[in-house]
Amino acid sequence: MSGGEEAARKEAADICQQLNHHNHLYYVLDDPSIPDAEYDRLLRRLQHLEEQYPELKTADSPTQRVGAEPLKEFNSVVHEVPMLSLDNAFNDEELLEFHRRVTERLKLPGALAYVCEPKLDGAAVSLLYKNGVLVQGATRGDGFTGEDITKNVRTINSIPLKLLTETPPSLLEVRGEIYLPKAGFEKINREAKAADEKLFVNPRNAAAGSLRQLDSKITASRPLEMAAYSLGQIEGGMEGLVQPETHSGTLALLKQWGFLVNPHVEVAADIDGCLDYYQKISDIRDQLPCEIDGIVYKVDSLALQQRLGFVARAPRWAIARKFPAQEEMTRLEDVEFQVGRTGAVTPVARLKPVFVGGVTVSNATLHNQDEVKRLGVKIGDTVIVRRAGDVIPKVVKVVLEKRPSTATEIVFPDHCPICRSPVERIEGEAVSRCSGGLICSAQQKQAIKHYASRKAIDIEGLGDKLVEQLVDQQLVSSVDDLYQLELEQLANLERMGTKSAENLLLALDKTKVTTLPHFLYALGIREVGEATARSLAKHFGSLPALQAASQDELQEVPDVGPVVAHFLHEFFNQSDNLKVIQGLCNQGVHWPDIIVGDNEKLPLSGQTWVLTGTMDVMGRSEAKEKLQLLGAKVSGSVSAKTDCVVAGPGAGSKLKKAEEFNILVLDETTFLELLTENSLF
Ligand code: IVH
Repeated sequence: MSGGEEAARKEAADICQQLNHHNHLYYVLDDPSIPDAEYDRLLRRLQHLEEQYPELKTADSPTQRVGAEPLKEFNSVVHEVPMLSLDNAFNDEELLEFHRRVTERLKLPGALAYVCEPKLDGAAVSLLYKNGVLVQGATRGDGFTGEDITKNVRTINSIPLKLLTETPPSLLEVRGEIYLPKAGFEKINREAKAADEKLFVNPRNAAAGSLRQLDSKITASRPLEMAAYSLGQIEGGMEGLVQPETHSGTLALLKQWGFLVNPHVEVAADIDGCLDYYQKISDIRDQLPCEIDGIVYKVDSLALQQRLGFVARAPRWAIARKFPAQEEMTRLEDVEFQVGRTGAVTPVARLKPVFVGGVTVSNATLHNQDEVKRLGVKIGDTVIVRRAGDVIPKVVKVVLEKRPSTATEIVFPDHCPICRSPVERIEGEAVSRCSGGLICSAQQKQAIKHYASRKAIDIEGLGDKLVEQLVDQQLVSSVDDLYQLELEQLANLERMGTKSAENLLLALDKTKVTTLPHFLYALGIREVGEATARSLAKHFGSLPALQAASQDELQEVPDVGPVVAHFLHEFFNQSDNLKVIQGLCNQGVHWPDIIVGDNEKLPLSGQTWVLTGTMDVMGRSEAKEKLQLLGAKVSGSVSAKTDCVVAGPGAGSKLKKAEEFNILVLDETTFLELLTENSLF
């Protein structure tokens, strides 16, 4: 070896070690210590050295993570220790039954500790390390023989290419799950959509598909992760290593060696702890960064695991408690078209009812024409329906093998199914819209529901069913008609009566005093949500000023871009809309003319107020909003700087503190008087 080569070998080995260390900090511990640019510089330097001296390219070199030459096919790998599967429990009783079997077999009456692990929904892998260096990665296959995916697993950043120990076992097999975090899944599907490629149905399929790529550069481009959950073979060379006696000890050792172990793994002291753990994880499941389909419980003691042994292809010492399935198969019986507030015509799948994600689902959205085309779905098809968490159920795939010969095309209507006006699809937009505007009763209903909703004008007692009756019976066609309703008309409606009718009229009367942001949001202008409505009110201060604004002026408002400016301009230029606004004003709907943007001139500018205790007439959030409209800052705690405290019944420590500081305290009645003086109540 030449002197130059010797120096290069030393430098390469040094960089290799540094990069593997930083990789572990970044991908496993989520705690990087150097900037990405520095990491990239080191990597480029190593690549350069390896190009100069190809013999320096080692199996544990981080340059391997970018992928290698494509393979022609996968070789098969025989698993020395078979990769087993797990028995399932679908409810608490089945889990308790498992525990009973375990304790009976062990003849152990007392508490038994279990390791509780999230059951990650991805693909199982087995990794082989020789003298601490990753030499092989294999899929599970049929449990006995899998496929050699070494080049692919090397691209996964949370897999150590070299164990973080000076004294590795001579042979080590680590098992775990490779998965795509939800965010990664969404990212690759966004990219696939942009490139007009087929989308993945769920993170599990995406992970499995990404692993089985002959071209490891494709795998490298997918943000896969691996969590280690057990050991296969382990042999020799472990001088100084205390062999773990528990499964939790094994996981700790794996962590020490540089593997990612799921951070939610816990040891439960007994079976009750296992039940609690299931509940705890179920509650946070939707917020977890990756998909899980259940909990795996494993007897913690390795000695007891050994005594329990295996049945057929599953261990007796572990069980998977499954969550209710989030995907099920059912039949698409029909497609109906719903018309929304802005006229969007949405195809809705009517399904043979199916229990999925913990509820019975009989409808699912098909979004729009492009989505129907992408799915290639027909009426009569068997489809896969997915409902995850609180998300609206979705048709994710057609099971083509089950397509009956009688399956029929989904035909999009060219006329609105409600008002018969032509349906239009604007170039570049995915949705088709009914052109009927406010003459379409479906749009009328949605507009009224939106106006009455909590975050808009908040009309208590005006629910969806009532709105539908009011429109169907032609008592109301736009929101201003609401204020002309009479007691008798309301009392005669289904499920109403005099008392409810009176209450509704009172509620309607109360909503006549509102705020400009609420009013603007309630109008239901396309793309104008609560935040935009607030910004518009703040910027223009009054409705006439907003109406008079040009599209350029509108774009001066924070979070208003050309699209929103266009919709606003269009809205205020349609005579039907102006008539509705005029109608509302004629009925007495108004908002105090406060220049929201100019805090200097407001009665409570510069003051800090605190609300405490309960309020009978007005909710806390409403009271807070009104105080803010008057220019006050509303704080959660009392200090010497507080100007005034509004204290309702039940006020405790904050009231005491206010008294200590000698701060002005108002009761609810006085507070309401203040609001009345300022036309806010
Ligand atoms: S233990 C002998 N632990 O579930 C023990 N498996 O049906 C075998 N899985 O193929 C597996 N998370 O792909 C285990 N924390 C976990 C797991 C887990 C996901 C998968 C694994 C396996 C399947 C078993």
